[in-house]
Amino acid sequence: MKLVSDIRELQRYLGALSSHGTVGFVPTMGALHKGHLSLVEKAMTENDLVVVSIFVNPTQFNDSSDLERYPRNLDADLTLLEPLGCHFVFQPSVEAIYPEPDNRIFDLGGLDKVMEGKFRPGHFNGVAQVVSRLFEFVKPDNAYFGLKDFQQLAIIRYLTAQMKFPVNIIACPIIREANGLAMSSRNELLSEEERRNAAVIYQTLNKSHALKESYSVSGLEKWIQSEINKNAFMDVEYAEIVDTDTLQPVESWSNPGTKIVCVAVWCGKVRLIDNMVFN
Ligand code: PAF
Repeated sequence: MKLVSDIRELQRYLGALSSHGTVGFVPTMGALHKGHLSLVEKAMTENDLVVVSIFVNPTQFNDSSDLERYPRNLDADLTLLEPLGCHFVFQPSVEAIYPEPDNRIFDLGGLDKVMEGKFRPGHFNGVAQVVSRLFEFVKPDNAYFGLKDFQQLAIIRYLTAQMKFPVNIIACPIIREANGLAMSSRNELLSEEERRNAAVIYQTLNKSHALKESYSVSGLEKWIQSEINKNAFMDVEYAEIVDTDTLQPVESWSNPGTKIVCVAVWCGKVRLIDNMVFN
């Protein structure tokens, strides 16, 4: 496993090696957990070379204190990656990714205007800026993203099609802690007590499936919100049932298409997101 921070150096290595097979890419912001590791493991089984990037992208943080508090621990990340046998860890500086301010505004087809987009203005434009740069540098054949960030995944698929990046976007399942809490780098910022209580998010999403027959779509959204809010540690920002393709709100269960419930919940100062597809 080679740690590279210089883009040209990475491109030299990849240029020399990539004619021998496929390149798998796992972009991350570090503070790695089992969810990230599952992406790397999948990439390892499906590619000849695997690059993991660790870059806390400033342009996707709409709140500067969130950027400051974002957990960073390169040594621990490298210790977790080493046994997986990935080939390159790319850890560029902010100046390397953005030698000049990135003023590009992406048309993300309106997928960026709902849910996370409403509460974190500019966030997905920042994600599109960094992912497009990373794709240009790494030129992966396959790129791996977790389904926990369902809206991000939809936006990256849209961006990839718009920009005609020759890369397959591979969606990987949510990995959960033993109590059901979706794994996230931000979980590190929770106290033990908050972490225990945050299990209510998954438990509620799970229960909501059985209640589909008893509530209208908006009634079930309200039920989810009030059920999670019954826990004194939780404060729901949104609970929305949307179409998995368009991310637009669903009005009725009889609407065609697959539906997913997405939530954002404040637990103290930490904002958690989760989702579950309705079968
Ligand atoms: O999901 C993340 O960790 C980030 O949004 C990503 C895709 C690495 C871009 O910074």
